[in-house]
Amino acid sequence: MDKLTIRGGRRLDGEVPIGGAKNAVLPVLAASLLTDQVLEVPNAPRLSDVRTMCEVLRELGSGVEFSSRGGVSVQSAQRPASRTGWDLVRKMRGSVCVLGPLLTRTGRAEVSLPGGCVFGVRPIDVHLKGLEALGAQLRIDHGYIIAEAPRSGLVGAELFLGTAFGSSVTGTMNVMMAATLAKGTTVIHGAACEPEVEDLGNCLLAMGARIHGLGSPRIEIEGVTELKGATHAVLPDRIEAGTYLVAGAIAGGRVRTTGCRPQHLSVLTDRFFEAGYAVERGPDWLEVRSDGQRARPTDVTTQPFPGFPTDLQAQWMALMCRAEGVSLITERIYPDRYMHLPELVRLGARIRRQEAVAIVQGTERLSGAHVTASDLRASAALVLAALVAEGETQVHRVYHIDRGYERIEERLVNLGADILRERDEEGP
Ligand code: EPU
Repeated sequence: MDKLTIRGGRRLDGEVPIGGAKNAVLPVLAASLLTDQVLEVPNAPRLSDVRTMCEVLRELGSGVEFSSRGGVSVQSAQRPASRTGWDLVRKMRGSVCVLGPLLTRTGRAEVSLPGGCVFGVRPIDVHLKGLEALGAQLRIDHGYIIAEAPRSGLVGAELFLGTAFGSSVTGTMNVMMAATLAKGTTVIHGAACEPEVEDLGNCLLAMGARIHGLGSPRIEIEGVTELKGATHAVLPDRIEAGTYLVAGAIAGGRVRTTGCRPQHLSVLTDRFFEAGYAVERGPDWLEVRSDGQRARPTDVTTQPFPGFPTDLQAQWMALMCRAEGVSLITERIYPDRYMHLPELVRLGARIRRQEAVAIVQGTERLSGAHVTASDLRASAALVLAALVAEGETQVHRVYHIDRGYERIEERLVNLGADILRERDEEGP
């Protein structure tokens, strides 16, 4: 296991090229199960989650090739296996995205139930409800979801996929993929509008699917009898871009994220202005400038797109730890997604929590300490806070961060940060 040792206090200056989005590439790779032809993703990021998804696909009989220039090609077997085991699904909940494509292509899917995760209950009832509406028979057996399509295949239907908190991103994706090969037309009401859903839709269109309404809460899919291979570059990772921009604001200096889509981060840009940071944007870049000043306290509430993303909540909290006053952070998507909170407190932050609301009393000084990463975005927040903490911070269990950030230490070092990755002999 590795750890990151960070000496705080360095200003950042430079550019970070943004890679393909983790949450787009995982479902796109799962979509390879919809055909026996090759699906190529030339800009697949080198993340451990991508490797895990490739292992899932191999387990299902697919051939997977990584190109030396980055990128992945997948070719599903003519008769894919139907079972995805607990070991891989438990590593990465995104593996549940194979359920819809596998079921519609082969008539049967057995996928381990993902169970809870560190930020609380993460149900998949919406996935199951959607597939049932298309005619699937579902049961839970020995911890597995066993899904079977009728002999004559899934049948299009009109259905509602909303949840108490908005809509389900991967639930919408699963049903959308299943509907591409169903008979007749499916209309999804209450579809998730996240850019990653639209991106998957664009990949499916390139594979020959017929889909209307992408990016809106009403998606219509006309089933076709078969799909073909395609080459699809996934959209840039808005969360990776947002994380480096927060790094610039926290540490002081100038950070430009290139190859990103500023329109996917307009809520973050807006919050930066309110917090007193200058943000410039071009067609495919965003730049934050800061002289290391303390932020103005700025509240955020996480919401479905285009609201403030839950995947940037922890990083924003890191920024607010040094604000000149009290900020309220409200987590509406995952009310328990606060594992970073006690670790930020170890760095000197003053944060209290009342159910889904974190009350952050900004303080001038953070100081380095040993902290433990507990999930992907929580780890990112700890690295960000360490950039401005006095002295040395050691972030243990950084394998979490490698799930979603490609070579984060290298990118931050290129910007001027003092970070070292080492084997962790003593860590928890
Ligand atoms: N929900 C239900 N029932 C369901 C599914 C979801 O009630 O069947 C609720 C959840 O409890 C939550 C809300 O709906 O309150 C949204 O959950 P969603 O299903 O949209 O989350 P997801 O699809 O499992 C994806 C990302 C997450 C990201 C969320 C929210 C992938 C692989 N994962 O998860 O990304 O936080 O959408 O935007 O796309 C991350 O990258 O760090 C990450 C956790």
